[in-house]
Formats: sequence, structure tokens, C-alpha cells
Amino acid sequence: MIKLLLTFTLVVTLDCQAQKVDSLALTPPMGWNTFNTFAGNFNEKLIREMADLLVSSGMKDAGYAYVIVDDNWTGPRDSLGFLTVDANRFPSGLKDLSEYIHSRGLKLGLYSDAGYKTCGGYTASRGHEFQDALVFARLGADYLKYDWCNTEGINAPGAYATMRDALRAAKRPMVFSMCEWGNNKPWLWGAGIGHLWRTTGDITACWNCIDDHGGKYNSYGVMQILEKQEGLRAYAGPGHWNDPDMLEVGNGTLTVNESRAHFTLWCMLAAPLIAGNDLRTMSKATLEILTNKEAIAIDQDSLGIQGFRQTQPDSLEIWYKPLQGGDWAVCFFNRGSKAATIRHDWRKDVIRDDVTMSELNCVRRTYVLRDLWKKKRIDTTANTLVSTIAPHDVLMLRLEK
Ligand code: GAL
Repeated sequence: MIKLLLTFTLVVTLDCQAQKVDSLALTPPMGWNTFNTFAGNFNEKLIREMADLLVSSGMKDAGYAYVIVDDNWTGPRDSLGFLTVDANRFPSGLKDLSEYIHSRGLKLGLYSDAGYKTCGGYTASRGHEFQDALVFARLGADYLKYDWCNTEGINAPGAYATMRDALRAAKRPMVFSMCEWGNNKPWLWGAGIGHLWRTTGDITACWNCIDDHGGKYNSYGVMQILEKQEGLRAYAGPGHWNDPDMLEVGNGTLTVNESRAHFTLWCMLAAPLIAGNDLRTMSKATLEILTNKEAIAIDQDSLGIQGFRQTQPDSLEIWYKPLQGGDWAVCFFNRGSKAATIRHDWRKDVIRDDVTMSELNCVRRTYVLRDLWKKKRIDTTANTLVSTIAPHDVLMLRLEK
């Protein structure tokens, strides 16, 4: 009897520890992060400005909630081993900034790493996971991105589960973003540990390049990252998302068309939408892309189904995403370098989603077509769709029942 009781207690205890805090990311997280534009060049003033701009630009209203301070914010440990904040960047301390961010109706994201040092060489959490989680909680963090530099010889599921348990023990609900670049196939083991996991190395702000950083590591353009999402859609869903990395909308060499296509494809993928541009200098076109609420509604759809691609000849792809209530999102994507004219007979093929067993059948039902970038109804599926799409651009539709 005693043995039975002990086993029961042990199972219950382990089971309690083995839970991430659920219901925090039932739709893909949205926010803004320091890294893509600023890397280590930020301080408390800049982050305050970004928080203000998220509010005044309308991005907060569009859903961008998390202000995420990426690598380079930690200072040395104090005499008791607690993590401190880099005093040069945060002369008033991070707690003040956190309160400010919360007062603006936003949430705070912080960053650490499973090794002793972050990628930027700053103090990281190895061996101090529970202590660090307490510090994140005291600072008022609502989100933790946990990186994978300097982790040679460490077991990834174990390291991430340790931080998950530490966050849970700290008793402040935080979205847990696992950033091990897809090295250990986190889609196979991450759902019970984190709310999102990176599927690739870093994105960089070009359409189709690979940046080799002097042979040390690679970062990838938008098309390179897109290709690496193949085969992963079945693993994503409410509370556990594939993360193809942050947005480069409005950054680097991406044209407006390319930024629009990048954003649209991330919405079709039900990807986290974490902007990474300088909000002080963004163009009207960039803001319009980032705040297109109808496109965002596709990303944030409550079913949380990651879209899928049907490759078509001549660089034209068609992407499909089943939506709540029987609507569908459909994206025609011109990958080519010349404008492409599509003639699409909706009634010719029945589209089957083998993962969710849903079906788009335009013979059985006629849908209204809403163009999500022109923000108007254009036709129905009873007629053949004829449209010309610019190079590296999209036609993004919602098929309404
Ligand atoms: C990388 C990570 C980036 C960024 C960077 C900071 O490992 O993938 O998103 O966080 O570290 O140094």
C-alpha cells in the first residue's frame, strides 16, 4: 500500500513538473525583438522608444504584444549567483523598463541561453536555471527566448525541459521560445516543453542568399528559410508552433513586394510574427504590411493549422490554409523574376489536406474571394480567377463561405 502511495505521489509530482504553462500561446506570438536590426546596439532609451512606437504606430492594436530584449542584456552574477543587468545599457535597471512596457499595455520578453555564455558572450543560464527563472519573473518577464550557443555536449530536450521546469517553479507564466535552430529536431519533442521552437538557423534580410559569416555559421534569406519548413506542419498547433524565425519585413535588400510576400507566407505558415525592423524609420509601406489585420487574422486563426504548398510549374506556387468556420486562405506566390499571369479554375481540383482531413471543394460550394492586400471582395470561385502577379509577390485571398 505504502509502495503504491509513493509511486502515485512520484508520478503526480513528476507529472506536475513536466508541464509547461499552457494556454499562453494558443495563437502564434506577436511582438518586436531587438536582434534583427540592433544586435547588441541598444539601451533602455531605445527600447522605450520602440514600446512607444508599437503603440503610436498601431502595431500594438494589430496584435504585436511582446517587446523582446534579445542577447546582450545580462551583466555578471552577484555574490549569491543571481543574474544582474548590464548597467551600461540599463542605467535605471530593467525593472523600470519592464514597468514602463507594461504601463503601455505591452509585455516584456527576455533572452537567455542554455550554455554558460550567450552567443554574444554575455552571462547565460547553465547551472543557474532556477535562479535565473526567478530573476526573469522578478523583472516581470512574460516571454523567454532560450538560445543554444556554447552548449557542446549538452542534451537539448533535457536542457530545455530544465528551463521549462524552472519557469514553472518561478510561478510567473512566460511564453517559452526554444531557439536551438532546429539542430535536434525540436518539433519531435518540443510540444510539451516550449510554446515555439526555431526550425532553422538565423534569418537574414535578403530574398534568397546564404550569409556564411566567415565560415562560422550561416544565416539564410527568406526563400532559404521557407524551403526548410517542408514536412513540419503536422507538428504545429495551438500552444506549440514551428518558428521559421523573426520577420525581416522592411529590412536589408527586401523590396516592398518581397516584404509583402515574406509576411504573407509567414501568415500562411501560422508562424510567430516577431517584427525586427527599426520602428523609428519604417516606411508607410512597411507599416501597412506589418499591420494588415486581415492577413494577421490568417496567421492568428484559432484552428492554428499551418498552411501547405502545392508546387506549380513556372515558379508559381499555391498555398492553402484551412480556417476556423470553413473558410480557407489561399496564396498565389510568384517566385519567379518575371510577372506571371494566373488562370485558376477553382472547380477543377478538390484540394485535400491530409494532415487535418479537410477539403476545399469548389464544385460543392461557391466561396466569395476576398483579396487581403486590396482589402476587397473581387469575385467568387464560380469563375476562373485571372490575375497578374509581380515578381516575388503574392495574391493573398480569403475564401469566405
Ligand atoms: C542566435 C539566435 C538569434 C539571436 C542571436 C543573439 O543564436 O538564433 O535569433 O538571438 O543568437 O546572439
